[in-house]
Amino acid sequence: MKAIILQKAGGVKNLEVVEMDKPTIKSDEVLVKVATIGINPVDVKARAYEAVLGWIYEDKRPVVLGWDIAGEVVEVGEHVSRFKIGDQVFGMVRFFGNGQAYAEYVASPASHLALKPVNVSHEQAAASSMVATTAYQALVDVAQIKRGDRVVIHGASGGVGHLAVQIAKHFGAYVIGISSGKNRDFVLSLGADEHVDYTAENFKTTLKDIDIVLDTIQGATLLDSVDVVRSKGMIVTLPSPEIPAEVKTKADEKQVYVEFMMVASKQETILAIAQLLEAEILKPHIDKAFAFDEIGLAHRALETNHVVGKVVVNV
Ligand SMILES: NC(=O)c1ccc[n+]([C@@H]2O[C@H](COP(=O)([O-])OP(=O)(O)OC[C@H]3O[C@@H](n4cnc5c(N)ncnc54)[C@H](OP(=O)(O)O)[C@@H]3O)[C@@H](O)[C@H]2O)c1
Repeated sequence: MKAIILQKAGGVKNLEVVEMDKPTIKSDEVLVKVATIGINPVDVKARAYEAVLGWIYEDKRPVVLGWDIAGEVVEVGEHVSRFKIGDQVFGMVRFFGNGQAYAEYVASPASHLALKPVNVSHEQAAASSMVATTAYQALVDVAQIKRGDRVVIHGASGGVGHLAVQIAKHFGAYVIGISSGKNRDFVLSLGADEHVDYTAENFKTTLKDIDIVLDTIQGATLLDSVDVVRSKGMIVTLPSPEIPAEVKTKADEKQVYVEFMMVASKQETILAIAQLLEAEILKPHIDKAFAFDEIGLAHRALETNHVVGKVVVNV
């Protein structure tokens, strides 16, 4: 099969398309013939920085990057009852860990996959795996979102943000989406009640009494978010587990909870995402689709930090 390997961290030229053996499956796994791969910022960070690559894959080299897939089940492990050959599936495979998704065939624990709803394309399904799981686990599992909450989503036009807006609206929240002005209409079209253009104004001058902030940016965005959250409200931050001392001190003074969350492959989450996709409550947006041998272009697109929705790669 064709796969994309990485021997060491660095530029996109380090991503090499090679031939390798198909993976073999364990009794609780299925083999998926991949139609589409979803590309995420963590793929780019692991490709670019040895520290991130080593954190995830330890000393294993070469690695096959990637976690998000959609495709067809072609082999089923003896202890798997939820899937059969020919099923169309999607999911985030083995995160945090070695998902090996940049390949024509991927061996995945059955518990990390759900049936792809028929009204959703492989591209949309692959695009929904890590980012929808992240948005769902952050808002529902960690922040325990409820009807009437005032929720701020930073990066509301990006991968996590555009689905987080839709999930927060589904749970009855009042949603304020933050992006640049060029994506204002897109963010409002997702259902956001208000939009703030971070290039034109600082959100902390107009927002207050926020119950939940989903922070996809960190830096000054995280620090300023503490100012807008009510006492006992919560910020869920995603880019890095390192929360600066300045943020912790300010949050303690204001009694604001700041939680880093790491997304995890879980059957209950991917099943919840599948239901929301089927009901057309979640509508993933594809910014650009690339071919398998254009993986470098897909990484470069994400490196702009201005993707609208998701970047995917068709196999
Ligand atoms: N901890 C975890 O488990 C976890 C899981 C998933 C993702 N993440 C992390 O979360 C971050 C976001 O991921 P993603 O997939 O959503 O990334 P993404 O799709 O690349 O996000 C791009 C979006 O961010 C917006 N943006 C850029 N700067 C902004 C700012 N200062 N304020 C508000 N919006 C801004 C851009 O909007 P404009 O073009 O309008 O500027 C763009 O639409 C990444 O660091 C990723 O590694 C962590």
